Amino acid sequence: MIREETIAREQAALMRNYGRYPVEFVRGEGAWLFDPEGRGYLDCMSGISMINAGHCHPDVVAAIREQAGVLINTSNLYYTDPMIELAEWIRDTSMGGRVFFCNSGAEASEAAIKLARKAGGADRTEFVSLEDGFHGRTMGALALTGQPGKQEAFRPLMPGARYVPRNDQDALRAAVSERTCAIAIEIVQGECGVYPLDDDFVRLARELADESGALLIVDEIQTGMSRTGPLYAYQDVGITPDVMCLAKSLGGGFPIGAVTARPGVDDTFQPGDHGSTFAGSPLACASALAAAHVLDDAALQDHVRKEGACFLAGLQGLVDDGLAAEARGRGLMCAIDLPDDRGAQVVSDMLERGFLVNNTSPRTVRFLPPLVVTGDELSTVLAALRDVLAA
Ligand SMILES: Cc1ncc(COP(=O)(O)O)c(C=O)c1O
Repeated sequence: MIREETIAREQAALMRNYGRYPVEFVRGEGAWLFDPEGRGYLDCMSGISMINAGHCHPDVVAAIREQAGVLINTSNLYYTDPMIELAEWIRDTSMGGRVFFCNSGAEASEAAIKLARKAGGADRTEFVSLEDGFHGRTMGALALTGQPGKQEAFRPLMPGARYVPRNDQDALRAAVSERTCAIAIEIVQGECGVYPLDDDFVRLARELADESGALLIVDEIQTGMSRTGPLYAYQDVGITPDVMCLAKSLGGGFPIGAVTARPGVDDTFQPGDHGSTFAGSPLACASALAAAHVLDDAALQDHVRKEGACFLAGLQGLVDDGLAAEARGRGLMCAIDLPDDRGAQVVSDMLERGFLVNNTSPRTVRFLPPLVVTGDELSTVLAALRDVLAA
């Protein structure tokens, strides 16, 4: 699966912050990745929901090729058209407000944090976010990421973050005050193991933000771009955020992040308040526009809902048969809890059978296939999983 020499070179050249699975990829197509020997692996991770349109989607490849031959980047000192077109698309498909571009999810969180702090003024410096939530690993984003294990080595963090357990309405009520500049949530908590928030809890967050004068930041970095069915997961809950963060699949695999805010909040940043040299490059935006046109598609979204429901029913079947403890999901964002701590072993056994999944904890295995995956392909995942769990 992987050459010894590749592992040795990686260990000598790269910092030790990633634990990689023992496989190397040299090519991708649709829902498949291929190793140097040409063995295909069914990708059930999409680069952590980063390549929803599938690997090397022909439209994305064509857009990158064409743009790369014309203009790659200019910085934000000048006007370029792909950036404006992509901002118009984000504005018109979400809250109708202006857009800020950056290069990753964590940078989108940082921009949202600065925007909320500036909008809140000197008296509103607190954030309320959720225990087990994930918003990125840079210092501001890490402060909103309610996971002590990830924060510990990096204290002191940005002050003012308060965490409440997901779906605990009383705790949310108690945490939000006139000092809160923003409440930050994911509609489905992804990194900690795919936990959809109760719709009532999300609606309460919206109400409390309105009552207290705080902003509601919805982090759609993992849930966005049709991953859960709708283009943005908040659209199925019937609320509208004040601020939304996007990244991952927005770029079709090419790095880009974005923050959009509703009209009235979208003029918070003024020249000099925030920026990024690379952000909104013609190349990144051309790739993103191509991916957006693939993913903002009713037929694809129906497919995600139908195949997601079918896959979740299959996972539930494993629970019913005593092979798993719980199944959760929305659209093609799913997870199972195991009855024991065999998560890493299950991932490794699935890899051996040619399926890429990951475990978000020793007990939880997550599935985020490219949205172009077929029902037949997902059936093979379920069959392999049954085999692995029954072993
Ligand atoms: C919900 C959410 N927010 C933010 C991030 C951070 O994105 P990035 O890794 O691009 O910095 C992630 C990454 O997994 C995420 O899932």
